[in-house]
Amino acid sequence: MQRRHALAALAAVGLPAWAAGKPIVLGFSQIGAESAWRTANSASIKQAAKDAGITLKFADAQQKQENQIKALRAFIAQKVDVIALSPVVETGFGTVLREAKAAGIPVILTDRLVKEADESLWVSFMGSDFVEEGRRAGRWLIDKTKGGTGEVRIVELQGTVGAAPALDRKKGFEEAIKDQPRLKIVRSQTADFSRAKGKEVMEAFLKAEAGRKVDVLYAHNDDMALGAIQAIEEAGLKPGKDILVISIDGVRAAFEAMVAGKLNVTVECSPLLGPPLMQAVKDLKAGKTLPRRIVTEEGVFPAEVAARELPKRRY
Ligand code: AHR
Repeated sequence: MQRRHALAALAAVGLPAWAAGKPIVLGFSQIGAESAWRTANSASIKQAAKDAGITLKFADAQQKQENQIKALRAFIAQKVDVIALSPVVETGFGTVLREAKAAGIPVILTDRLVKEADESLWVSFMGSDFVEEGRRAGRWLIDKTKGGTGEVRIVELQGTVGAAPALDRKKGFEEAIKDQPRLKIVRSQTADFSRAKGKEVMEAFLKAEAGRKVDVLYAHNDDMALGAIQAIEEAGLKPGKDILVISIDGVRAAFEAMVAGKLNVTVECSPLLGPPLMQAVKDLKAGKTLPRRIVTEEGVFPAEVAARELPKRRY
């Protein structure tokens, strides 16, 4: 009875629903389901919301920025308590982010960053350091090819055009190898982070390079590498041996490919952002100031440790 009175009093002074004992409502705009990483990321967010007692409004944008903008506008109209956005590309979100700010709804960016001069449009950005992931991939290759002579010809499969992980992983890798004149990127093209496109673009690379040796494949994610591995095998070559294969994410299928000797290294990028996101949402609603940047801790897994690590993988 007393609690009912307290809730009525809170409502009367216009406090938001969560303060009156109702669950916090989080609107989350997800990119899509382009990769095993993304599927694991969505599962992590859904499970963590359930565990935290947060009401989750989950919108899958199917890779389209316009769908993300629509979803954000719907969340604003529904007056959710917090919005979380994993933006498909870096640019073009300014207007809708300003609308959220004007409505007094805090936005947390997860996984990927946007490029906006006004950084007050989001309260925190949580996720990996993609530039560092690219550097780690480059450093692994430098170490692997150390002591050799002659050109090392690299083909690169980029992620989605305009997406932060595609831009940053390219930048980090190039930065790491820039003082290594032997290491040359001879072809670089997007395969949209998907396995099917990874296969298709790798087939095209091998055709275009017929008669010349391709030494290394650097793929911005595991799914594209796994598709490319198929293309390499269909071309009568041995992935992991004739062509070194480097990728990013660390999904279970990549570990299996390493155990099978077809992939040489995966640089970890954790999709398990659900628990830290829910914690951040709760902290925010409790009046705490979130750190501007929450960086995920990650490792590098070469094929030599794959069999030992595989049973421990959570995605
Ligand atoms: O933004 C993270 C990237 O997006 C992952 O590396 C990739 O697999 C996904 O599609």
